[in-house]
Amino acid sequence: MTATTGESEPRVIAGLDGVLACESRIASIDGPNGILEYRGYNVRDFADTADFLAVSYLLWHDRWPSAQQLAHFDQEVRAQRQVPPQVHEMLRLVDLRSTNPMALVRTAVSLRGALDPTADDTGHDAVLAKATGVLARLPTLVAALSRGLSGQAAIAPDPALSHAANYLYMLRGRAPSDEDAAALNTILTLYAEHELNASTFASRTVAGTLSDFYSAVVAGVAALKGPLHGGAVDDAMRLFREIGSVDNVAQYLDRALAEKRKIPGFGHRVYRTRDPRAYHLEAIARRLGAAAGEPVWVDIATRVEQEMVARKRINANVDYYAALALYHLGFPLTMFTSVIASSRIVGWSAHIMEQYGDNRLIRPRALYRGATGLTYQPNGGT
Ligand code: COA
Repeated sequence: MTATTGESEPRVIAGLDGVLACESRIASIDGPNGILEYRGYNVRDFADTADFLAVSYLLWHDRWPSAQQLAHFDQEVRAQRQVPPQVHEMLRLVDLRSTNPMALVRTAVSLRGALDPTADDTGHDAVLAKATGVLARLPTLVAALSRGLSGQAAIAPDPALSHAANYLYMLRGRAPSDEDAAALNTILTLYAEHELNASTFASRTVAGTLSDFYSAVVAGVAALKGPLHGGAVDDAMRLFREIGSVDNVAQYLDRALAEKRKIPGFGHRVYRTRDPRAYHLEAIARRLGAAAGEPVWVDIATRVEQEMVARKRINANVDYYAALALYHLGFPLTMFTSVIASSRIVGWSAHIMEQYGDNRLIRPRALYRGATGLTYQPNGGT
């Protein structure tokens, strides 16, 4: 992306920082004040109480569902939770312990695209149906992967359970408490959408070529996997483990910051405050940690956060306390980013639909800095 300063000198805006790449009606972020809204509603007001599927409906339809609409959507999702045998076959083909689970999430979405004979239909209703199908199936995949890591067999979804309760049931093999299901519901709600983050931009870029829905989602999964994006949630838990005790925090940070390491779970391109989602996630992590008799992790997290704010004036982002919340809910450490993918499918889908609805190919420019006009010589002139 280039912009012109004054008369003519083009310049690159590194990382497209602050560049407005499209218009959108899905989510707004007020970075200086730390406010996130979905379709005009402040996430703070409903994150702890709204049903994740109602939030998904809001993001896809630009209105909250009526009780009847939500019941209908919920039924649609429950009916599509089973993953096809080809997915289980794929899991058997790889060594789960040495494979990044996000590579399998990426492959599973791609496989679904290959198995859907109507994959190339980019009409609104068709895309809505495909998005519902992926939203319904991702928890089944994530739970199967989570269990497979420790050699446990996958558990079939229970159509009697809500989205979040069934997710934890498939993970643990027993129905969760209402508190645990509510905690996961909130986590899924908070991760559902976040404007033009890297993965959503990747999805929109693919949708902008009028490629199919699954290809666009695969691009989103691929981008989310990176440690500067969704991958940071796994790394945050590794950080707490590595530190191990509140007494080690200062020494750990002395060294990490001297080595100019990025501390996972801190910093944000847009927020200049603490991430508004971190308040809800910290409360969940604190509650679950206390219930598990393991307050040490949130104690370490709190101390690291205090030090980072004092030393660097850098705030915690969404992934920081989410790592602890997901750990206490029983997800294996390497699976956290995949859980986030199973939520962010909502935002990706909303943006893909928006892109298809008012499309223009996304095609920025590069400011060329290499040589020009060289004379071709076979074999490099040697
Ligand atoms: N730990 C230590 N320092 C950090 C930091 C972190 N997590 N995040 C940013 N900084 C510092 C940078 O070193 C830089 O300092 P400098 O100006 O002295 O060089 C400054 O803050 C600006 O950082 P920069 O990387 O240019 O910001 P960005 O907008 O390009 O990057 C992130 C944003 C999210 C990629 C970055 O903060 C990061 O890598 N965070 C860790 C990974 C993470 O948690 N990602 C999830 C995001 S939701």
